[in-house]
Amino acid sequence: MFICVCKAVSDKAIKQAIAEGADSMRSLKNQLGVGSQCGKCLCQASQLLHNELVKQ
Ligand code: FES
Repeated sequence: MFICVCKAVSDKAIKQAIAEGADSMRSLKNQLGVGSQCGKCLCQASQLLHNELVKQ
C-alpha cells in the first residue's frame, strides 16, 4: 500500500527504512522523499513512524 503517492513510497519501504535506522520524519523525507511534494501523506507517515518506533 502506498503511503506517499507522490513519491510512490509504500508502508513496506517506510518500515524498512525505520528498521535500518530512520527515526524521524526528516530522515524518512531525506531517504525516501516522503512528504516532499503535496504533504498529504505526512500524518499517515508520522503515525507509521511512531508505531514502528514504539515496537523497537
Ligand atoms: Fe506524499 Fe504527496 S503523498 S508528498
